[in-house]
Amino acid sequence: MNQEKVIVIDFGGQYNQLVARRVRECNVYCEIYSYRTDIEKIKEMNPKGIILTGGPNSCYEDNSPTYQKELFELGVPVLGLCYGAQLMMHVLGGKVEKAPVREYGKTEVFVKKTSPLFADVSEKTICWMSHFDYISKPADGFEITAHTADCPVAAAENMAKNLYAIQFHPEVLHTQEGTKMLYNFVRNVCGCAGTWRMDSFVENSIKEIREKVGDGKVLCALSGGVDSSVAAVLLSKAIGNQLTCVFVDHGLLRKDEGDEVEEVFGPKGPYELNFIRVNAQERYYKKLAGVTEPEAKRKIIGEEFIRIFEEEAKKIGAVDFLVQGTIYPDVVESGLGGESAVIKSHHNVGGLPEHVDFKEIIEPLRDLFKDEVRKAGLEMGIPEKLVFRQPFPGPGLGIRIIGEVTGEKVRMVQEADAIYREEVDKAAENYKVANGTEAPWMPNQYFAALTNMRSVGVMGDERTYDYAVALRAVRTVDFMTAESAEIPFEVLQKVMSRIINEVKGINRVFYDLTSKPPGTIEFE
Ligand code: XMP
Repeated sequence: MNQEKVIVIDFGGQYNQLVARRVRECNVYCEIYSYRTDIEKIKEMNPKGIILTGGPNSCYEDNSPTYQKELFELGVPVLGLCYGAQLMMHVLGGKVEKAPVREYGKTEVFVKKTSPLFADVSEKTICWMSHFDYISKPADGFEITAHTADCPVAAAENMAKNLYAIQFHPEVLHTQEGTKMLYNFVRNVCGCAGTWRMDSFVENSIKEIREKVGDGKVLCALSGGVDSSVAAVLLSKAIGNQLTCVFVDHGLLRKDEGDEVEEVFGPKGPYELNFIRVNAQERYYKKLAGVTEPEAKRKIIGEEFIRIFEEEAKKIGAVDFLVQGTIYPDVVESGLGGESAVIKSHHNVGGLPEHVDFKEIIEPLRDLFKDEVRKAGLEMGIPEKLVFRQPFPGPGLGIRIIGEVTGEKVRMVQEADAIYREEVDKAAENYKVANGTEAPWMPNQYFAALTNMRSVGVMGDERTYDYAVALRAVRTVDFMTAESAEIPFEVLQKVMSRIINEVKGINRVFYDLTSKPPGTIEFE
């Protein structure tokens, strides 16, 4: 499908996905592979360029992630970032050692504008540094092309061999001209034409899906979230009524969400989908009774999903394919793509049960980042309201109720969450009307979670011993890192007062200030 590809080789750096995203922002298709990937596989992919990511190790230590020298002799341009830069030097005979001064954070870097990487970049530019080790001597044939006050080799290159090493992180937005540098690499050095576009993605996917499915029957898991909605519409464009969408209401959805999904995708909605709603609330609550461990909950929820689809498929008869709205970060974060540690098993990838009664699973969005999924959705005419919906995890409120899930707790968190979202939306709208711009505190994701802490309160003259709800609101660009949003105090107070007055069983409200990292956005 993609003639032009850049490969990111992952050495365990926390920004590996960002590198790939930035490359795609230059309209160049890009995939992430572990440093353990065989060089023959890399060669087969015929990449136009290779980027080595950062990583937590020291390249001169035994057993540190490495790559064979041949990678640098393929005639394919290579760009090493941070650990990747150090490794390039180490493998090619330069010297890397512990730096006398550790650099961390925004740092002034002086670049040589003659370098193709730094074309159009300011001579003095702010970059994001994060390293203990440094390149004390570049390998033979390399010229130093940037330095900082403390780092003599902030960048080096061997132009004849098309090898480039950068000590800082151009993929991080704190590096003010980082995108320009990556653009220079993929478009100018590697010579990529930049043909990766969403309209061609939609067109090509439709063609591929038709070829793959033939006249087979397809079942789509529709949750009403952005990813599965885009997947469903893509499939329905490709194969029309060979597709049946199954929407499982697992009783872990937000307030009224089940009905809202049915309104859009059901028989009265704008799409002509075969739509089946399965009300499986009780079945889920029974399975989840007594289970408190987050990963166990995720696995149960994911597995039950598949079982229900299998049952529905049997009713329809001879279903060949199952569609899932898995997207690229799910794949990478589940440890299936790159090198990153498994933080949480996203239920639609890592938690997939071994026994699945379908011929094959189709994941048409598996290669896309979230913003690309949204672009594809808009491209196909899906309403903006749906496309820009805030993300909601597959396991739903199951991972927003800490500890055991019960129907009663679901009710509490649903009510509290609805009040919270309503008040935040109202305040944001008021701000917009008054100021003509979006509120600077407007979170990208905001929701309530139920803690499993009960505490004493007083309501009227009565003693209460009820649950505490936690409000979460984060500002984030990519959901990989996030800051707690500064929602105005009066808005939070109003939410608190409404929740305590209106939601039976809750007598305390907390606001979560934790950023990601070290926290995650969801609670489990
Ligand atoms: P975390 O909690 O990992 O969340 O910081 C990052 C983003 O991913 C969403 N999320 C999920 N989405 N299935 C999903 O489809 C899941 O299992 C899942 N877990 C987390 C979360 O809402 C946030 O936007």
